[in-house]
Amino acid sequence: MRRIAIVVGAVTFAVTAGGVPALAGPSLFPSEPAGAGPVSAEQPSPERPLVAVAHRGASGHAPENTLAAIDAADELDAGTVEIDVQLTADGEPVLMHDASLERTTDIEEVHPDLDSYDISDLTLEQIEEVDAGSWFDPAFEGEPVPTFEEALDRLESLDLNLFLEVKDPQSHPGIEEALAGEITSRGYWMRKNPPREPNRLMVQSFDWGSMETSKGLLPSIPHGLLGEVPVDELGDHDWADMVNPNHTELTADYVSAVQEAGFEIMPYTINEQDRMVEVLELGANGFVTDFPDIGQDAIAEFEGARQAEM
Ligand code: G3P
Ligand code: CA
Repeated sequence: MRRIAIVVGAVTFAVTAGGVPALAGPSLFPSEPAGAGPVSAEQPSPERPLVAVAHRGASGHAPENTLAAIDAADELDAGTVEIDVQLTADGEPVLMHDASLERTTDIEEVHPDLDSYDISDLTLEQIEEVDAGSWFDPAFEGEPVPTFEEALDRLESLDLNLFLEVKDPQSHPGIEEALAGEITSRGYWMRKNPPREPNRLMVQSFDWGSMETSKGLLPSIPHGLLGEVPVDELGDHDWADMVNPNHTELTADYVSAVQEAGFEIMPYTINEQDRMVEVLELGANGFVTDFPDIGQDAIAEFEGARQAEM
């Protein structure tokens, strides 16, 4: 058993939690630092701030999953950005939420004769020809679909943290290895933030088996399970670090159960300040939002109310 201290404003709550052991087996990647695995059962987890994660970049302000959305998140002082990554037909990881490019690009105009606009049927060269900005606002005309490498370059240059969602990995065989290879080649992502800061990198997916595979490749990197893991199944995933469900059905009992089992919890996707505050009152460690500016206001409101109660 280990103790996790959760700080809420100036108030620190200590809860007893199950240990989060490292997954057995060595990394396949030689640059994985030795001894950098998850917190051992003896080490207390330190206090960490509440986090408003910028969903698909600051996607309320700029086209989702683009460099412009990452830039917008930075301009709004969001420290952590969430992106979705999938593989092209020729195996290049790129940022995209939907299976198809139709909703968020002009691919039907650029490539009118193609039978499929699914990312897994398109080459990187074809994808590089589309405009992923105009659908959102003409001011973003010409904004490209970024490769994962380009997104990492931009995040690193802005000194941002990353929630990396592996989207629909069943449709992208080998994506875990492709992402792990890129991550382990970059010292920025393999270095942990100081213990009282948010994670520098957290890899997550609705496909929990894919995350167990990824954890085996990246044992020192925190991993998250998207969706609501049944309480009686939490112990089956003790290699993971976060459980991030949709916020709509969230209860204080579920938040407590998840945290007591040793996980952090940051529900998605909340865009109203009142609801953000409610979710923090339920005990969440943060949340995911299209509007990180509103998210920071919500955290300030919540922490201010807590301090006023003291
Ligand atoms: O961060 C979790 C959230 O992004 C999951 O939902 O559909 O927006 O990828 P979705
Ligand atoms: Ca996502």
